[in-house]
Amino acid sequence: MAIQIPRGTQDILPGKVELWQYIEEKVHTICKNYHYKEIRTPMFENTELFKRGVGETTDIVQKEMYTLVQKGKDSLTLRPEGTAPIVRAYVQHKMFGDATQPTKLYYMGPMFRYERPQAGRYRQFSQFGVEALGSKEPSIDAEVIALAVDFYESFGLKKIKVLLNSLGDVESRKSHREALINHFKPHIEEFCSDCQARLEKNPLRILDCKKDRENPLMETAPQTIDYLNEESKEYFEQVKEYLQAMDIEYVFDSNLVRGLDYYNHTVFEIISESEGFGAITTLSGGGRYNGLVQEIGGPETPGIGFGIGIDRLINALEAEKIEIPLETGLDCYVVAMGENANRKAAELLRQARKEGISCDKDYLSRKVKAQFKAADRANAKFVAVLGDDELERNVINVKEMATGNQEEVALAEVVEYLIRLTKQ
Ligand code: HAM
Repeated sequence: MAIQIPRGTQDILPGKVELWQYIEEKVHTICKNYHYKEIRTPMFENTELFKRGVGETTDIVQKEMYTLVQKGKDSLTLRPEGTAPIVRAYVQHKMFGDATQPTKLYYMGPMFRYERPQAGRYRQFSQFGVEALGSKEPSIDAEVIALAVDFYESFGLKKIKVLLNSLGDVESRKSHREALINHFKPHIEEFCSDCQARLEKNPLRILDCKKDRENPLMETAPQTIDYLNEESKEYFEQVKEYLQAMDIEYVFDSNLVRGLDYYNHTVFEIISESEGFGAITTLSGGGRYNGLVQEIGGPETPGIGFGIGIDRLINALEAEKIEIPLETGLDCYVVAMGENANRKAAELLRQARKEGISCDKDYLSRKVKAQFKAADRANAKFVAVLGDDELERNVINVKEMATGNQEEVALAEVVEYLIRLTKQ
């Protein structure tokens, strides 16, 4: 039996890959406009990084990591997310000392989580993320959210919604934590064993437990917003003011706590409200993580960022029936007859390609008719025909497929001719 692709992964074939390339280009463009620089880190890191960064009590660390068994002592893990690796690189390369501050970074690539695959949830998925390190001003929280919103809007997506909450600073989180323990403790035996373990270690994680979602105590649980100290309240107010100033709509969601441990102050998610989107509606998530840089061994540095799932973005485009016009065609297909013409065609192709013209020829010794068919399938803008007769006269017959116009062009000038017509 033929070997199949692993569960929860996908092949992106020609025809679909152009959409990915289009999205990737948009990522580079928007980040350039927002003045974020690309950073590339390895696909795997020391396991300890995610334990410390993402948090021991999170689902990611407890259940979803692809940890590699290797001969030495080090334990390595395929990156389940990008923030901890970026912070690791930031600390390792002492980027906090760079002249340009804050350090505004972006990344894109595959992430790996051992999750139960379903629509919109994969074991290998792709994320575009940004991390802004070194600023604790509320305006950068708003900038990061604006970047995410603008990114979605640049595809024409309309049914997206920003959910916003604040977890507050360390002090606020501490008093919320105590309130949570008091709330859940008397009934903790009704909850799953994971939640029982979370109660003392990290009661916030109980709130995003998938198993106990229906327990009525979840709904009445203390909300972070009620435990914000004055400073945190003020911070949150300012973030909202900046969002308003930038004309970014959001909805306050007191239940939003996020599933990773490093957050404080601002947290947000962007969801799709499109009907056809499916059960998992979250398109992206992010928030502030003052303290994480220190946790990873660097100096006290504030940070904020988000992760956008590219696979889910594509699902959202499909759900909103947005067709992206993609360039899949070829500039020119050379139909060549006979050995000599084929040799000449090979030479022409090389010259044309060097000039940035996309072109192709037959490699299956097909008859002329079949070569025309191949040109058609390749969606060629021009078909250039080269037979013995043309070769003898040092010309080539170029046909523009859209108009049907034909012209005989000198072989020595055909590349120039194609440049002129395709780049106009
Ligand atoms: P996250 O909420 O775990 O946050 O993931 C962000 C996004 O990645 C999700 O909203 C979703 O679009 C996508 N995603 C996550 N898991 C899967 C999956 N199994 N299949 C498909 N897509 C998935 C983070 O990863 C944080 N690092 C975000 C962040 C950056 N916070 C601050 N900076």
